[in-house]
Amino acid sequence: MLSTPCPAKSAGLFFILFNKGPDITRTDDVFSTMGAFGIPIIPIFLHIMIDDILSLVSRHEEWCGRNCLNLIPSENVMSPAVRILLSSELGHRYTSRYNFYRGTRFLDEIERHGEELAKEVFGAEVADLRPLSGHIADLTFLACFAKPGDVLMCISEEDGGYPGLGEAGLAGLLGLKLVPFPFEKEKMNIKVEKAEETIKHVKPKIVIFGASLILFPHPVKQLANVAVENGAHVGFDGSHVLGLIAGKQFQDPLREGAHALFGSTHKSLFGPQGGIILADKAHGEVVKEKIFPRFVDNAHWNRIAALTLALAEMKRFGRDYAEQVVRNSKALAKALYDHGLPVKCHEIGFTNSHQVILDFGSPERGMEVADKLERADIIVDSVVRIGTCEVTRRGMKTSEMSKIAELIKRVVEGENPETIKCEVHKLCSEFREISNTAFNFGKLIINKLII
Ligand SMILES: Cc1ncc(COP(=O)(O)O)c(C=O)c1O
Repeated sequence: MLSTPCPAKSAGLFFILFNKGPDITRTDDVFSTMGAFGIPIIPIFLHIMIDDILSLVSRHEEWCGRNCLNLIPSENVMSPAVRILLSSELGHRYTSRYNFYRGTRFLDEIERHGEELAKEVFGAEVADLRPLSGHIADLTFLACFAKPGDVLMCISEEDGGYPGLGEAGLAGLLGLKLVPFPFEKEKMNIKVEKAEETIKHVKPKIVIFGASLILFPHPVKQLANVAVENGAHVGFDGSHVLGLIAGKQFQDPLREGAHALFGSTHKSLFGPQGGIILADKAHGEVVKEKIFPRFVDNAHWNRIAALTLALAEMKRFGRDYAEQVVRNSKALAKALYDHGLPVKCHEIGFTNSHQVILDFGSPERGMEVADKLERADIIVDSVVRIGTCEVTRRGMKTSEMSKIAELIKRVVEGENPETIKCEVHKLCSEFREISNTAFNFGKLIINKLII
C-alpha cells in the first residue's frame, strides 16, 4: 500500500539541513547527520522527487480510484484479490521456454491453470496468456498468418476500427494492404452483402472482426465461411468485448467461424492489463510455436497469475456481470436519449455491448464535452464513448444509470461542473468497495492470500 509522504521525516530533514548551521560544509556531512537521526540517507533532490511521485500516485488514487465516475469503455477495475496477485513475488521472476532460467517450478503450473480456465471460459481449443497487451495479441495473429503484400480486411479507423491495425500501425509495420469492410455508419455495423462481394474480389489473407467502437455483434456467422473459402484466416479482435463474450452476452466468434479470438484482458474482461489469444487447434498451435521468442520473451508471470484469478471470477460470476453491464448500457443510453442527447443507434436499440456512443457531430465538440465532463469528475473519452463496465463492477444498477444520465445532461447543458462534482462524489462514495459487490470472490480469497 502506498502512503503519502511522511511529514515528520520531511520536517526532520529540513530541520537538519537548515538548523545544523556552519558545521555542515559538505553534502556528505548532511547525509551522515541524517543517518545519525535514523533518517534514510537520500540526497535531497531525490527525496523531494520521491515525495512528489508518492504524492502524485496517492492523489491519482484518491481522485480516479475513489471520487471519479470512470466511464471509459477501455477500462475496468480488478478485484482486490487480483490486484494483490499482480504485485506478488512472481513479478520479480524471469522465465521463457526451454528452462533457461531456473527457479520457475511453480510458474508452469500457474500457466497451465490459466490456460485451462481460459479454454473453458471461452470454449477454445488453445489458449495463450502470454501476449503483453491486446496490441501484441493482434500483432501475433497477423504476423503468424500473413506475409508482406497480403491483404488485411478489417473495420477502418473512421468507422470505429482499432487504429493500431491501420497503415500507421500493424498493417504498415507488416507491409499488409488494408481493405476496409464496407460499413453502415447508422447501424454501426458491417454491410454483409457488400462485404461478401469484396471478400470474393480481393481474397484477403486475414479478416479481422471486432472494433474499438462496438455496439452490436459483428456478422461473423454470415461472413466467416466465405472468407475461409477465399483463403482467409479469420480473427476476432475482442479487446473490448471479451468480458461480454465470456459472460455469454454478446456473440461467440469461435463458434461462428472465427479461427481465433484475441485482445486485451482489461476492458470488459476485468483482468490486469495485458493480452490473450484463444484459438482453434490448428491456429493455436501455430501461435504457440511462434509467440516465443518472436512476440513475447519473458511473459510477466504476476500478470498471468492475476489474469488466471480474474478468469476464475469470470467463470463463476461472468454471466451475471455481463448481463448487468449490458442492462446498464441500455438503461444509460435510453436515459441519455430521453434527456435529448444525441445517442448513436437509437433506432435499433442503442447498444448491445458495454458502450454507449454520444455523437456530437465533430471531434472538436466531442472534446469540448469530454473536457466539461472531466471538470465534474465524470471521465469519458473524446469520441464521446461511454462505458459501463467499471460502474457495474462497483455495484451500480439501472437506477444509478438514470442518475448518471441526469448528471451528464446537466453538464452538457452548461450547469457549473463544480456543482455536479459534489453529486458525483456522493454517488461514488456509495459504490467504492469492489470486494462487496457480487462479481468477485471478495474477502474470502483475500484472507487466503498471504503475500
Ligand atoms: C479493438 C482494440 N484492439 C486492440 C487494442 C489494443 O489493446 P491494448 O491497449 O491492450 O494494447 C485496443 C485498444 O484500445 C482496441 O480498442
